[in-house]
Amino acid sequence: MRTFPLLLLELLLRSKRDWVLSTIELREEEPVYGGRIVVSQMYNDQKKEDNVHSKFHLSGAGVDDGFFRINEENGEVYLLKKIDREKTPHFEMKFEILTDGVAIDDPLTIIVDVEDINDNAPIFKNLPLIFNVKENTKGILPVVLDVCDEDQEDTPNSKVTIRMLKQEPAEPTIELKQLSNRKAQLTLKGCFDYDRIKTYKVTVEAKDHGKGFLSSTAVVTLNVVDTNTHPPKFKKKKFYGEVNESQLKKNVLRVEVEDKDTRNTPGWRAKYFFVDKKEEEFFQIETDPKTNEGILHFIKEKHYERTINITLEIGVENEEPLFVCADKSTGKVTLPPIDKINVTIKMFEVNDAPQFEKEQVDVYLKEEEEPGEGWLPPTLADPDFDIDKIRFVLTEDPAGWLTIDPITGKVTSVTKMDRESPFVEKGIYKAIIYAIDDGEPPANSTCSLLFHLGDVNDNKPKLASKSVIMCGNKGNKAMVPVIDPDDPPYSGPFAFSLGGVDENLKTQWKLDPDIGMEGGLVSLTPLAYGNYSVPVEIEDQQGMGAQDTVNVIVCDCGEADVCPARGPLSTSLGAAGVGSIILGFLIFLLLLLIFICQCGQGAMTHITLPYDEGSQTLMKYNVEGGGAASTAMPTIPWLSSNGATVTDSLKPAIGQGLCGLCDKKLTG
Ligand SMILES: *[C@@H]1O[C@H](CO)[C@@H](O)[C@H](O)[C@H]1NC(C)=O
Ligand SMILES: *[C@@H]1O[C@H](CO)[C@@H](O)[C@H](O)[C@H]1NC(C)=O
Ligand SMILES: *[C@@H]1O[C@H](CO)[C@@H](O)[C@H](O)[C@H]1NC(C)=O
Ligand SMILES: *[C@@H]1O[C@H](CO)[C@@H](O)[C@H](O)[C@H]1NC(C)=O
Ligand SMILES: *[C@@H]1O[C@H](CO)[C@@H](O)[C@H](O)[C@H]1NC(C)=O
Repeated sequence: MRTFPLLLLELLLRSKRDWVLSTIELREEEPVYGGRIVVSQMYNDQKKEDNVHSKFHLSGAGVDDGFFRINEENGEVYLLKKIDREKTPHFEMKFEILTDGVAIDDPLTIIVDVEDINDNAPIFKNLPLIFNVKENTKGILPVVLDVCDEDQEDTPNSKVTIRMLKQEPAEPTIELKQLSNRKAQLTLKGCFDYDRIKTYKVTVEAKDHGKGFLSSTAVVTLNVVDTNTHPPKFKKKKFYGEVNESQLKKNVLRVEVEDKDTRNTPGWRAKYFFVDKKEEEFFQIETDPKTNEGILHFIKEKHYERTINITLEIGVENEEPLFVCADKSTGKVTLPPIDKINVTIKMFEVNDAPQFEKEQVDVYLKEEEEPGEGWLPPTLADPDFDIDKIRFVLTEDPAGWLTIDPITGKVTSVTKMDRESPFVEKGIYKAIIYAIDDGEPPANSTCSLLFHLGDVNDNKPKLASKSVIMCGNKGNKAMVPVIDPDDPPYSGPFAFSLGGVDENLKTQWKLDPDIGMEGGLVSLTPLAYGNYSVPVEIEDQQGMGAQDTVNVIVCDCGEADVCPARGPLSTSLGAAGVGSIILGFLIFLLLLLIFICQCGQGAMTHITLPYDEGSQTLMKYNVEGGGAASTAMPTIPWLSSNGATVTDSLKPAIGQGLCGLCDKKLTG
């Protein structure tokens, strides 16, 4: 226990009647020993003079707060409790002499200064001390430690030394550098490695220089934040994509990388680039923010002579520059090479078709010409083709008359061409040829070959219809139409004449008109209704002719121009029925004719032999005699106007045979 001398600093001086300012110094934290300690004795001569009524009086915060008390009689000032300088470093009080409560002199201001002792240890501010430090930090760590010491400034009591006591883990070495009396900073030797250690604990101490060297410690926590210490690496060394040279395309291909840094940090996010910056004109590569893949876009058309593979060299980095710790022995930083790959892009040449100079070629030739003639296709115009790579194909040749040389495109006829073929339209035969190049895909163009086939007289005129109708009730003329597939001058107008050698024909028939696109067949004498075969000869303009047989159907047309449908009897009679009827009549006729002949009646017309057309007609045809018979012969029922029910061919046979016999008999 230290002796506590009365601290009586009687600085109170009076000059005349004025009070002089007095300062008292007290040490903090002194024990008070029950408030007995006299810190001062106030004094005033007025008090001496009037000791009975006048009293000392002290006022101010120090009195109100219970630190000081004054003895009203003798002016002793006592300290009642310990003073903490860090709370109340100084007191200002007012000292007066009061007589019956009234000041009898000017008041005096007393100041008490509290002297510091080292009763506060320095402490670290901003606890807890937790810092995030980037993995790529070099040297100075962003960790500043602030301390405070409540003791009086600029004294050893508040002079602080800060130091590091330990770190955990021990590597890399962390050091502490004091910046000022109140600040220190941590520094680093070497590099953090986030993959190995993510947290460090550093114990630091602050110690003052006052009596007793008070100190405190704190633990600084360093959390290592991952940065870019791993370069991205392509997962594959080969990537392949395809584009059409003139077709812009998004997402041609994607390239993938691997990065060991923390996902979605700038040290992980990839940044792709073209090694050759010139590629940026045609291609673009961007990063997929989700997958970190590089997406290649084709952004500008590029023209090549042909389909080729091009190579794009692509490199990859991270958004954040790569950090590599310096080599311990050499102190040198060696960055690994940037990962690069070659990407193959197949550039399809978009093929411009080879173009025929003309889309259509007209070829003029005569039909039925000997095959073997050849025609070359029109020349080709194509900016990007090689004539050797073109092949020619004949795609349309409906009649199969042509062949094509695939190399030269020469088209050759292999058979005669017939102008009258169903594949020929209006005298034109159309074939189509293709020129196809070797592009990918092959492009082509077409050319039509139009063969204009000149007519030759390769067709004879012929009857448009085998039968013509002669309406017996209206007249004695039937028109005979003719067709000839050839064109003029190899067709009509045609010349008509009666065919055959039989002079008798001319007595029954004539042709009027006998020149024209159809002929008129005129019967010179009336005809019984029935069918008649008339041989005619038809010639085209060039005299090319043919003999044909006209079947003339003579009938009662009524109002119309056609024969009426036949009655039910004729249609129901079968050949056998007709035969038996004929047989019956034959017997009757025979008897009748014998009778006539014997009567010497020689009025029968001479009947000519039938003209046999051969296979052209199935029937033996009637001769004019049939008609004449009606005049000479008595009325025979089957020769009446509806006599068509009986086969006419039989009638002349009967008449001719029997009457001939009769004539001979008559003449003989
Ligand atoms: C190229 O173009 C063709 C035709 O338009 C198309 O079928 C093909 O898919 C395209 N190729 C590419 C790689 O875009
Ligand atoms: C282009 O590359 C692809 C894939 O590597 C290959 O199949 C193709 O043959 C190449 N084409 C050319 C013209 O080199
Ligand atoms: C890509 O190809 C070029 C040319 O062939 C070559 O010089 C380069 O080294 C290649 N790059 C890679 C990453 O293979
Ligand atoms: C010609 O080209 C067209 C269009 O590309 C194609 O559809 C056609 O098949 C080709 N024709 C031939 C004969 O190659
Ligand atoms: C007459 O000719 C027409 C047409 O050829 C035929 O339909 C008909 O049966 C023939 N008439 C007779 C009686 O032969």
